[in-house]
Amino acid sequence: MSIPVLTAGGGAAAPVADLVRLDGSLSLIRHCEELPELIAACQAGLARAAVITDEGADLTAALAERVAAAGVALVVLADTPAAQRRLDALGVRHVPAAAGAAALAAAVQAAVSETIAHSGRSLSDPASAFGGPGSGPEAPAAAVPEEPEQRPARTTAVWGPAGAPGRTTVAVNLAAEAAAAGARVLLIDADTYGGSIAVHLGLLDEAAGTAQGCRLADQGMLDAEALQRIAAEVVLGRTGRLLVLTGIPRAGRWTEVRPAALSALLARARSMVDEVVVDVGFSLEADEEASFDVMAPRRNGATLRVLELADRIIAVGAADSVGVPRLVRGLEDLAEAVPTASPLVVLNKVRAAAVGRSPEAQLRRTWERFAPGSIHAFLPWDPAAADAALLAGSTLLEAAPGSQLRSAVASLAGAAAGSRSRFRRRSGAK
Ligand SMILES: Nc1ncnc2c1ncn2[C@@H]1O[C@H](COP(=O)(O)OP(=O)(O)O)[C@@H](O)[C@H]1O
Ligand SMILES: [Mg+2]
Repeated sequence: MSIPVLTAGGGAAAPVADLVRLDGSLSLIRHCEELPELIAACQAGLARAAVITDEGADLTAALAERVAAAGVALVVLADTPAAQRRLDALGVRHVPAAAGAAALAAAVQAAVSETIAHSGRSLSDPASAFGGPGSGPEAPAAAVPEEPEQRPARTTAVWGPAGAPGRTTVAVNLAAEAAAAGARVLLIDADTYGGSIAVHLGLLDEAAGTAQGCRLADQGMLDAEALQRIAAEVVLGRTGRLLVLTGIPRAGRWTEVRPAALSALLARARSMVDEVVVDVGFSLEADEEASFDVMAPRRNGATLRVLELADRIIAVGAADSVGVPRLVRGLEDLAEAVPTASPLVVLNKVRAAAVGRSPEAQLRRTWERFAPGSIHAFLPWDPAAADAALLAGSTLLEAAPGSQLRSAVASLAGAAAGSRSRFRRRSGAK
């Protein structure tokens, strides 16, 4: 049985159509002039593979992901080394146009087998192999090859429900403790409701490093050098260095942080550092998915994607009668949205004034009654330390090294909170 193939790309229509026709194992279904037309055809379930000419110049990670989400295998004809590198970064299979019809057919066969293996569908069941819109969860993002010589970094997502429970405080200070202990750490602000890492760290938020990183990753242009260039650097102690991608300065810019690009950004980041810490938005709602417009971007897609990809999720809740029930409901939503998640619960702003004497014991008892699992850590209510850090635009270990809050965050990070030395910072600071 021949593989139904769509082709796309201006100018080179005839040659690519000929190439496809020349090999008996492929059958040309339609040639599309533009990529949006190709994507619509993929989503309509017309073909099992797509071949793009023009070296995939207009192809982005987001578009490649849409093709993959429709269960269609993708191959690009690319002859120049620069285009081949870009496609490698996007995780897209390519073959030189000059290699001929048989080589193209072999690449298409391989890509189709890979797509079927990924989706767990069977070749003998063509109907199920043609996943149309809404036929299943989004396909995994195009994998960016990681530098082989080192293990990928651990990725920690710091999440929590609405109401400012202290997600950013925890993310910033976990990252800072790890960096001060000597790890190479990248802190990413992926809060699509408005990032605040820049404010917490006294950095220029106009840089919007995460959006820049996503833009480059989407185009397959995010190499280690580019990531280093767009990240702000905060130096902690003698050797500690924290790389920071600041968030979107205005909530309206959330469309700049899309899941496919963020996946590629995370993959690149994980090959460069020892630890990646990501501050994500609170909302897990995926209602937009029910929309008929499957091309529409999803505001919470970035949060969900990070939670899916993270090795560890820290769920932060405020330790009071508003924060705890919110966290319990949020954890139920999280279990539904990301069934693989096993979050570590951290209760922040713990104070007797809000829950009574022996607040930790009280909170444990309440938790046992209403929520599954256990509380991983408590962080004390410590407005003096939190305010000193915010006022100075710096970390707790710089602004309040001897505080209770710093000490608790340091234990959470697995680091000893002994050092009281002065820390200096470098580029990126206001
Ligand atoms: N343990 C704490 N004690 C006192 N204030 C805190 C504590 N943790 C966070 N805060 C303060 O609460 C506010 C919200 O914190 P933030 O980390 O920005 O929340 P989120 O990211 O969840 O919206 C900030 O003013 C911060 O300084
Ligand atoms: Mg925040």
